[in-house]
Amino acid sequence: MAIVDAREMLLEATAGHYAVGAFNITNIIQMEAVVEAAVEKRAPLIVQTSVTPSKFLGRHVLVAVYRALAESAPIPICLHLDHCTDVDYCCRCADSGYTNIMIDASKAPYEENIRQTRQVCEYVHALDGISVEGELGTVSGVEDQVRVAEDEAALCNPDQAVDFVERTGIDLLAPAIGTAHGVYKTANPKVDFERLSRINRILNGNGPRVPLVVHGGTGLPPDTVRKLVALGGSKFNVSTNLKHILIDTTFQYISAHRDQYNPGKLDAAVKDAIRAGVAGWIDLLGSAGKAA
Ligand code: 13P
Repeated sequence: MAIVDAREMLLEATAGHYAVGAFNITNIIQMEAVVEAAVEKRAPLIVQTSVTPSKFLGRHVLVAVYRALAESAPIPICLHLDHCTDVDYCCRCADSGYTNIMIDASKAPYEENIRQTRQVCEYVHALDGISVEGELGTVSGVEDQVRVAEDEAALCNPDQAVDFVERTGIDLLAPAIGTAHGVYKTANPKVDFERLSRINRILNGNGPRVPLVVHGGTGLPPDTVRKLVALGGSKFNVSTNLKHILIDTTFQYISAHRDQYNPGKLDAAVKDAIRAGVAGWIDLLGSAGKAA
């Protein structure tokens, strides 16, 4: 169907009180699995890559595969660059055909975050049809090249949100609300629901304007996920969970078929497992059927 940017897709999700799954992939099999799951579920989809896989596989290759898959899929799909701290690489990925770019200058002082984020917005918006995500506050944990220690993490100041949006020109805001990248150390991570709710009221209280992004999806209890979606999270990022599925399935398959040398069967097992995992997330986020 359509190659789309995230803004329109997520404004609809915000209005409809569901979230679009944004799944980080590191290879082509994962990308196919994620797309197949979303097609089966008739769900809008965001495929995303961090900077390392984008450079390892090559951004032109990733965009070419994304385009081939998106053009023949009956659902809207975006290709998003996740947590890029380098303004120039953000611009190069936009040139190559990514449909959304995240500039993550959240570790920099506030004014510097604004400066870098605005720089990316000015470049990317001139290309037309590409949206930009910015982060305010810092999400703890490790996502690719971005590391934030727990005691270093700062939650998003709701009173700064409007200023940040207006001075940068971002389309999507990722507010730090206590979720973290990677595996949570506790079964019930402390998430600041009230903060998300307040930011949503401030930005979207008079109708959807700036979709909100929830980072650190892996390991959140299902009730927490539902509540975050109900309170305004409309892009929901999941990465570590898919990496675990890939590695665990590979290990299990090889352990059970030690005498077999058929990479196609291993790939199929990995693809099936990722597809099933992603389908579960789509159900949880409430986006099944929303692409119909
Ligand atoms: P997890 O790795 O915790 O799922 O977080 C994903 C994410 O927020 C990517 O930006």
